[in-house]
Amino acid sequence: MSTVEETVEIDGDKLMQFVFRSVGEVGATLNTALVVMGDKLGLYRALAGAGPLSAAELAERTGTSERYVREWLNAQAAGGFVEYDPESSRYTLPPEQAAALTDPDSPAYLPGFFQIALGAVLDSPKIVEAAREGAGFGWHEHVPDVFDGCERFFRTGYNANLTSAWLPALDGVVAKLERGPAVADVGCGHGASTILMAQAFPNSTFTGSDYHAGSIETARRRAQEAGVAGRVRFETDPAAAYNGAGYDLVTTFDCLHDMGDPVGAARHVRGTLKPDGTWMIVEPQAGDRVEDNLNPVGRAYYAFSTLLCTPASLSQEVGLALGAQAGEARIGDIVRAGGFTRFRRAAETPFNAVFEARP
Ligand SMILES: C[S@@+](CC[C@H](N)C(=O)[O-])C[C@H]1O[C@@H](n2cnc3c(N)ncnc32)[C@H](O)[C@@H]1O
Repeated sequence: MSTVEETVEIDGDKLMQFVFRSVGEVGATLNTALVVMGDKLGLYRALAGAGPLSAAELAERTGTSERYVREWLNAQAAGGFVEYDPESSRYTLPPEQAAALTDPDSPAYLPGFFQIALGAVLDSPKIVEAAREGAGFGWHEHVPDVFDGCERFFRTGYNANLTSAWLPALDGVVAKLERGPAVADVGCGHGASTILMAQAFPNSTFTGSDYHAGSIETARRRAQEAGVAGRVRFETDPAAAYNGAGYDLVTTFDCLHDMGDPVGAARHVRGTLKPDGTWMIVEPQAGDRVEDNLNPVGRAYYAFSTLLCTPASLSQEVGLALGAQAGEARIGDIVRAGGFTRFRRAAETPFNAVFEARP
């Protein structure tokens, strides 16, 4: 048998455009590590509001090595993260970058986004191996930057939206929370959402749970630090078997798609809710079709899904592997398979979709 090879014409201009675009991509990939470096060494915080600083001044203020700081600053200047003045050889962090890189209360606070991305990349050799066989890689197996980055990234969105927009979008839930019901926050990680709700609704009691014992230990510490430990309990449990019953509200924040058996989890949620209770499901924003998600947010989520969410689900029983871009139709199917009869999109942001499920 012989094969005839098709001749493919290469457009030289398009090829060079792709090569130069890739230079930008590699610079951005490396900058993820540099942003985390700047965050951990306090470089952005020392630059914020300080006016123009030389590399030596920044190194002195942060107790770091001037030679590293100078190289880091030049990379930051080349990427537009800081501004460089050639006359004085000084560097300035513009106020917008200062807000996004140093103010944890800003709705645009970004270091956690970079930190979870760096953690995901650090673990990527293990995902390469898992992909050969279709094996899973559990959430609990990742480096700490994944857990800490996840907490910091998601907390920013919860601070900006949870009590002001998402809970009010659910039918009658805020009125109930003010009266003081019991709430279960399932797959709670470091408990950012649980603690925020506990601070907003002092009459209610909250049980956060997650299958990852290390995350639950951190969540307990966070609750102590926030002064809500008396009303918030954290327990290490999988979503299909967390404790308690008669909940008015069950919440799952950015975790349903990470579970191996989301239908089993949905059934358990249904069984632990009061007949008139509510399940709030926060999931990554996504359209139902691949072509709906071919945009910068979808790109980041498909990448996180390849490196974190899909392997996490595959590591568990059933291993449904919904992926982080499952979309409303598939989430609705899961919810209905779990025994819920009502399902709707209640709120959304460019990053999250918030669904309300009722028995
Ligand atoms: C992307 S993180 C989100 C954490 C937290 N909800 C937040 O918003 O910060 C996904 C979480 O789901 C948890 N998880 C994955 N599978 C689980 C399961 N079967 N039962 C309970 N938690 C699970 C992971 O341990 C992880 O903490």
